[in-house]
Parts: sequence; structure tokens; C-alpha cells
Amino acid sequence: MRLMMAIATLALCLAGAARSAAAQPPATTRQMVLERNEAGRYAWKLVRVAVPAVGDHEVLVHMRAVSLQRGDIEIVDALSAASATGRDHTGQIVCSDGAGDVVAIGKLVRGVRVGSRVTSLYFSDYLDEPLSAEKQAKGHGYTVNGVLGDYVVLEDTGIAPMVAGLTFEEAATLPTAALTAWMATAGGGLVRRDDVALIQGTGGISTFALQFSAASGARVIVTSSSDEKLRRARALGARDGINYKDTPAWSDRVMALTGGRGADLVVDIGGKATLGQSMKSLAYGGTISLVGGLSGYGADVAADDLIHKAARAQGIYAGSRADYLRMSAFIKKHRIHPAIERTYPLDRYEEALKDLAAGNFVGKLVIRL
Ligand SMILES: NC(=O)c1ccc[n+]([C@@H]2O[C@H](COP(=O)([O-])OP(=O)(O)OC[C@H]3O[C@@H](n4cnc5c(N)ncnc54)[C@H](OP(=O)(O)O)[C@@H]3O)[C@@H](O)[C@H]2O)c1
Repeated sequence: MRLMMAIATLALCLAGAARSAAAQPPATTRQMVLERNEAGRYAWKLVRVAVPAVGDHEVLVHMRAVSLQRGDIEIVDALSAASATGRDHTGQIVCSDGAGDVVAIGKLVRGVRVGSRVTSLYFSDYLDEPLSAEKQAKGHGYTVNGVLGDYVVLEDTGIAPMVAGLTFEEAATLPTAALTAWMATAGGGLVRRDDVALIQGTGGISTFALQFSAASGARVIVTSSSDEKLRRARALGARDGINYKDTPAWSDRVMALTGGRGADLVVDIGGKATLGQSMKSLAYGGTISLVGGLSGYGADVAADDLIHKAARAQGIYAGSRADYLRMSAFIKKHRIHPAIERTYPLDRYEEALKDLAAGNFVGKLVIRL
């Protein structure tokens, strides 16, 4: 009996030692940062640096997974374009969407403890409404340090608890892509049961918009460049698919599929090239969620289409931490699992970036750390 108790005590001690060992960060960490060449063009560079110390309101997160998004490429382009006149972003950590566990906290941090599983948020201090320029000022991986590194420091307002039941890889897809899709659909009160929701594309935001709309009881129509991706979209809950390459005037098809009614919600990610068809696809009283500008943002908007249909266009720019928590509850309630096409170890990041640019995926691409 004594022997068994001694063995049990030893096992507990070893488990405790393993836990505290796991909580001890190493002296150095890998981080992916921006580097600028002589022409002023930024690119990603993998570096090894000292693990940063936490400030009073900061936490040190051991990142386990970081998801990629189109914005990660667009940010490099935007910062490079402004390189001659803007501030120098050399050394800034890239990417905004990661999941990991907290290994150290600042002395004034409340509500998070060492060992908490968290995700980053896109904005580092946008807690709740009302939105203001100040709350949008700090975007992870854009205007302030992002999350792609084994150990990164984040403000305590720039993280949220991980949704229970998701893996680190799944949770890492939520901060920007899912939250933007949430605000463009159910979270923005823009889709209800029996509505028709028209979702463009099968990338990160689009796939979450599909899942949130379907879980809300809407009939979902997806447009894509690929029949195979449309098949995958149907498996995720879409009722109909339209290949926008084969059917450039896809609004006609939307009208035919809905008996002339059109879509109550259109999630537009194309911008300039798609807004005209999006307007024509709208039902009376419908809403267009303006989310992306894959083909550019400067579109001519047919105001008369909106006016005649008493419809509205709603701009979407990620969301607040409070929105994120509401989305997390919805994901848990509806047991939604993010669609992940592929994961990559950090040292294969160039391959991941190529795939991101090529668009040869449905849902998300994720880097494992
Ligand atoms: N407003 C915000 O808060 C916010 C936040 C993050 C990103 N964004 C923007 O949203 C856009 C999408 O980002 P993402 O990360 O979801 O991109 P992503 O994962 O790379 O997916 C892009 C998808 O767009 C589809 N697509 C491209 N051209 C299209 C067209 N003409 N019609 C319909 N679909 C088209 C493609 O779908 P198929 O392969 O199926 O054809 C592609 O898979 C980007 O412009 C990004 O900057 C906005």
C-alpha cells in the first residue's frame, strides 16, 4: 500500500515538474518578421531573437498554430507601396491569427492565467462598441507586431479564450476570417432562418460565411471558379453552387434558383469585379456585406439598384472582442469546425505562401509551430 502511495506521489511530482518545465519559456524564439530590401519592398524573414519580456498589461503566448489569410499578402504589398513615405516596419512580426497557451503574464493582467489557452484577436484593443479610429489603430501584423513566432507578446486586450472543443489549428483560423464572416452574416444580424444567402468564393472568410449562414437556417448559394470547390461547399452546407467562370452573369442564375426573389444577403469579397452582379442578385430589402476587394475597391455602385430595392450596403471590418465572444458561443453551440485544407511546419512557410497566393484551397491554410 505504502509502495503504491509512494509511486503515486512520485508520478504526481513528475507531472508537476513536467507542467512547470513546459511553462518555462526558452531564452530565444523563432519569429517571422518583415525585412525591407533596397528597393523598399518588404518580404518575410525567419529570425531567432530573445524571448521578449512582458509589460504590466501583456501576456507571453506560446503559439501552437497560426492561420494565413489573403490579407497577409495584401499587407506586405500595402506597406511596400507606402515604404518611401510611411514608417519603417522592419522587424515587425507578421500575421494576425494564432492560438496557443499563456506562459507568462504581466503584473496588472486580470482574467488570464498561466496555462490559459487563447487566440489572438485582429485588433489589439477593440473591446466593444462604439467603434472609433483609435480602436482600429492597432492591427496585429499590420500596424503592430503580429503572432507568427513560437513565443510572442500580446496585450491582454488583444486575446480571447479559445473555443472549447477546437484544436489549436482550428482555433487559429478564427480571429480575423471567422469574425469578419460572423459580422457579415449572423453576428451582424444580417441573416435569418429561411433567408437566401449568396456567398462569393470558397476561401477563408467565404467558408465561415457559408457555415454561419447555414447554421442560422438560411439557404446558401456559393459562387466559385471551380466545380470541385463547389462540391466541397455543398458538403459544408451550401444548397446550390454557381461557377462564376462558366457563368459570368451569375445574378441571372441566382434569380432563376430563387424563383425571381434574389438573395436577402450577399457577402461580397470581390469588390470592383463583383459588385455589379452582387447588386443585381439582391432581393428587395436585402443587404450586401462589403467585405473584400480582391479585384480592387473602386467600383461604380449602381445606387439606383439599391434605392429601388430599398436595399442596403454594410461595410464590415473584422469586429470587437465582445463580438468575438458571441461568435465563439455560436461556434460551440452549433459545433462548427473550421475547414482547414492544409497545415505546414514553420520552415515550409514559402510553400504555404505560394499556396495562399495560388488560391488552391477551400477554407484555411495553417502553419504549425
Ligand atoms: N473587411 C474585413 O474585415 C476583411 C478581413 C480580412 C480580409 N478581408 C478581405 O477579404 C478578401 C478575402 O479574404 P480571404 O482571406 O477570405 O481570402 P482567401 O482565403 O484567399 O480566399 C479568396 C477566395 O476568393 C475567391 N474569389 C476570387 N475572385 C473572386 C471572384 N471574382 N468572385 C468570387 N470569388 C472570388 C476565390 O474563391 P474560388 O477559389 O472558390 O473561386 C478564393 O478562394 C480579401 O480581399 C481580404 O483583404 C477583409
